[in-house]
Amino acid sequence: MSLPPGFLDELRTRVSLTQVVGRKVMWDQRKSNQGKGDMWAPCPFHHEKSASFHVDDRKGFYYCFGCHAKGDALKFVQETENVGFMEAVQILAQEAGMEMPARDPRAQRKQDHRAQLAEVMEQAVRFFRLQLSTRAGEGARSYLARRGLSGPALERWEIGFAPEGWQNLWDALRGKGVPEELIMGAGLAKPSNKGGKPYDTFRNRIMFPIRDARGRAIAFGGRAMDPRDNAKYLNSPETALFDKGRSLYNHGPARTASGKSGQLLVAEGYMDVIALAEGGFEASVAPLGTAITENQLQMLWRIADEPIIALDGDTAGLRAAMRLIDLALPLLEAGKSLRFALMPEGKDPDDLIRAEGREAVQAVLDQAMPMVRLLWQRETEGKVFDSPERKAALDKALRDKIRLIRDPSIRRHYGEDLQDLRWELFRGGRPREEAAGSGLDLGFDAAPDAGFDPGARPADDPGFGADYDAGYDPGYDTAGYDPGFDPGYDAGPYDNGPTSAGVPAGRPDTSGSQGYSGKQGGYAAGKSRRSGGFRDGTRMPWRGKNAPPQPLETTRNSLLAGGSEESLARVREAVILATVITTPAVVAKYEVNLERMSCIGSDHALLRDLVLRHGIDAPERLKEEIAAAAGAHALENLFALRHVAISPCLRRPGDVEVASLTLAEEFAKLEASRGLDAELAEAEEDLDGLADEAVTWRLGQAAEARNKAVRSENEDRAQYDVGENGARLNREERDAFGALLERIGYSKK
Ligand code: UTP
Ligand code: MN
Repeated sequence: MSLPPGFLDELRTRVSLTQVVGRKVMWDQRKSNQGKGDMWAPCPFHHEKSASFHVDDRKGFYYCFGCHAKGDALKFVQETENVGFMEAVQILAQEAGMEMPARDPRAQRKQDHRAQLAEVMEQAVRFFRLQLSTRAGEGARSYLARRGLSGPALERWEIGFAPEGWQNLWDALRGKGVPEELIMGAGLAKPSNKGGKPYDTFRNRIMFPIRDARGRAIAFGGRAMDPRDNAKYLNSPETALFDKGRSLYNHGPARTASGKSGQLLVAEGYMDVIALAEGGFEASVAPLGTAITENQLQMLWRIADEPIIALDGDTAGLRAAMRLIDLALPLLEAGKSLRFALMPEGKDPDDLIRAEGREAVQAVLDQAMPMVRLLWQRETEGKVFDSPERKAALDKALRDKIRLIRDPSIRRHYGEDLQDLRWELFRGGRPREEAAGSGLDLGFDAAPDAGFDPGARPADDPGFGADYDAGYDPGYDTAGYDPGFDPGYDAGPYDNGPTSAGVPAGRPDTSGSQGYSGKQGGYAAGKSRRSGGFRDGTRMPWRGKNAPPQPLETTRNSLLAGGSEESLARVREAVILATVITTPAVVAKYEVNLERMSCIGSDHALLRDLVLRHGIDAPERLKEEIAAAAGAHALENLFALRHVAISPCLRRPGDVEVASLTLAEEFAKLEASRGLDAELAEAEEDLDGLADEAVTWRLGQAAEARNKAVRSENEDRAQYDVGENGARLNREERDAFGALLERIGYSKK
């Protein structure tokens, strides 16, 4: 429908945003200034205790400084009431006492049709309710009573009964003059293929009306009482009213209830929802006989940040959970997640609450697992990881899952958590709790490598440090690495100790011993070994008395070479970051690559996340945002790197073509070495705790294999020229690149 000009403006001036929002939030009285229309509250769109949600009543605009939700009254109603734009207009117009203009005729007809169908559905609800109280409904009544439903519950859930027979409802509705096409359009009857009268969809079933969030009856679920019936539940077909994947059973009441408790339960079936709600868990919903869809997930998240999925205690329940995880991973956003509560074996929530009461359910809910746990369980349960191959398979499976997560910060945390779980599994539960308990968390968001102090590393620690790098293949990309050149960068907090690469997250900086020594930051920062050891008295691998003997010189050399490969990766990252920061227009195109980028360099993860967060929405403010979040030095340091300084991006900031070529090249190279890094990391992991030269030798072999592969890759490209930014290009790329460089007046020194 098109609204007359000025209608929306009029609407916006008439409604008070403070009033609209005030129904959903508790204002922070101290922070707010009602007189000025300057209101603050905890944000209704993400979970928080502080009041970061701001309403400017005069401008009619809200903004959350935490989750960046923003909009006007219409947007707010859309988001909080889960309605479309026009419905939001309708809701607010009614509130403001404005009459909605006439719809355009086609939309009007559609609207009318839906209203008619809804009316027929209401008649059907009444018909089925009535049938339940007749003699024919006796069996149904006793069935329901056996299942613990009587009087008030039947009333509240409007449970009815569709009697045996082919045309009961049909005849009743037709008798009231309801047109045939409306009965069929509402999915209540189906055409006979024998040419006879249409027949009732629901026969001899207990009927559960399904209402949308606004309370309109849109469908029915019908349960057979006879266990031999070939469909235990039969649901309404999709109609103009009913879109299965966009509906939830008990949506409206659950939303209201959740608004108070902040909790939301998702069960599998109608009976579960009823039992839960009757037992006091009012904020309960269920999908409608299908697996939860993306739409339904978004609906759930509009109600609560962390819905709890109540799983039937059977394999089907677990399978459903796993499907749901796969669906949810790419959609995760900060603060929005899922928890999973597993019912005791063979029970669903309905069974449990009836057998053992609401406390038993509450106990299960208290134990609800975060998604990452279930993910881990799926990949590890019943499996033995007694060989590198099996461990590698596990790593790959986990990595693949983590890659599904689009939100970089969440992806990183998943990487860390899984790394912890992996650690427990492979190290027989030798803990990292101490680190957790000590409050030392390597907060990647705040300061990617905080807690590392290379100076504190024992001198005998065979690190991958940049100080070793200069010797490696100086003809190639390492020029920037001579320690004199860039001490702030190379000698900085980046120093990962033995392990660096290839982690479930595909994120070297969250991996194995690095995350590990990071968590043990107190130790790395120079605490004495005695206080830095594990609670059980075990010492940290590689440190102190239990440290393995020095690796052989040959091993060491191959390690060094491996370290250099990392340095190259770091340079590539830096060039990539500088390129996207100076030319944010390319961020969208390379978004996926950026998200997957390993970020070995200190600060790189942070910069990358800032680029992803602001580069697309606010390219013009990108640098400011980075300076604000990472400090002014972050950019200065980055641009001061020689490889960056000489890269085309600094000379031609904003040149999309140059930037694209640079990125294509750098990403291709970064990604080529990643697979090998993962293998090497695996071998390195085996080093921890196993302090003998045999293992060191294995590590050496792995490192050598990696270096060989990388070298041969380089040799394959021997015929290529070296581009000005140190990148090697194939012939076509070189020509294109050369032409570009010429055009921008950039000539070889
Ligand atoms: P369940 O088989 O778990 O049944 O199906 P339930 O909810 O525990 O029901 P009771 O306790 O046996 O009465 C869960 C949901 O899956 C859908 C229904 O929505 C049901 O509530 N379903 C199940 C169907 O659509 N068709 C079926 O044949 C079975
Ligand atoms: Mn059940």
